[in-house]
Amino acid sequence: MDRVAKNIIDSYSQGPDAIYADWKEREALPPYEAVDIWRDVSRLFFRDKNADLIFLSPTSNLPTHEVAIFKDEVQSRKGSTIFLVGDLANLNPKDELAQVANLQDDKQKFIYFKWDARNLPVKKGTVDSIWDRRGWIWHSANLEDNREKATLDSLINYRKMLKKGGIIILDADYGMKSGQRGHSTDSVVRTRIREDFFEKPEIKKMFDSYYIGEDQKRVLVLIKK
Ligand SMILES: C[S@@+](CC[C@H](N)C(=O)[O-])C[C@H]1O[C@@H](n2cnc3c(N)ncnc32)[C@H](O)[C@@H]1O
Repeated sequence: MDRVAKNIIDSYSQGPDAIYADWKEREALPPYEAVDIWRDVSRLFFRDKNADLIFLSPTSNLPTHEVAIFKDEVQSRKGSTIFLVGDLANLNPKDELAQVANLQDDKQKFIYFKWDARNLPVKKGTVDSIWDRRGWIWHSANLEDNREKATLDSLINYRKMLKKGGIIILDADYGMKSGQRGHSTDSVVRTRIREDFFEKPEIKKMFDSYYIGEDQKRVLVLIKK
């Protein structure tokens, strides 16, 4: 296993030795606010409720946000709703999966994987939406070496899985406490790599981009060209 993967597993797995084992308890975004974000985004990009939806969350930790979004989505979507969700750390999401167990059928699936966001077992060109909240893009931008290339490569890799017009949703709020800048994926990319990273020609060639929402619920949406 490479050093990056080992660090992530050591940091985020459940258990007494992990530094961030309590991440979901400490984290500030409650699931109902994740639903608000998704509703705002999907109103713009996935308005047709008869269409099928494939939602990918590569770095969910315990999938509290994803379960809440899935439950909300299956109430209104008439097309199929497939959620592919997972994390690299050793986690046991039994409580979260119990919440969606009764909602599974041929058209509605919520599947949890232990996987590496750098090498996902997902068919290229099939995904509508990638939700990567303080996830692998955040970690790429924080690597010790080659942060800019790693972050660009990670976005290229995510993009391959998207349909044309599919989107990546990155957190762009101002931190754990309101008024702070510095903890969201957008902030970390801009401070650790460079302020105009998302305006680079390589990015502009691949994606259109919009900021949506305010404060805690602000996100950067990258749309595959
Ligand atoms: C800071 S937590 C954020 C979790 C969640 N998305 C949230 O918003 O609360 C980062 C998560 O990303 C996971 N992660 C980081 N790199 C990963 C990778 N390459 N593949 C899969 N999961 C990864 C970590 O294990 C950790 O659970």
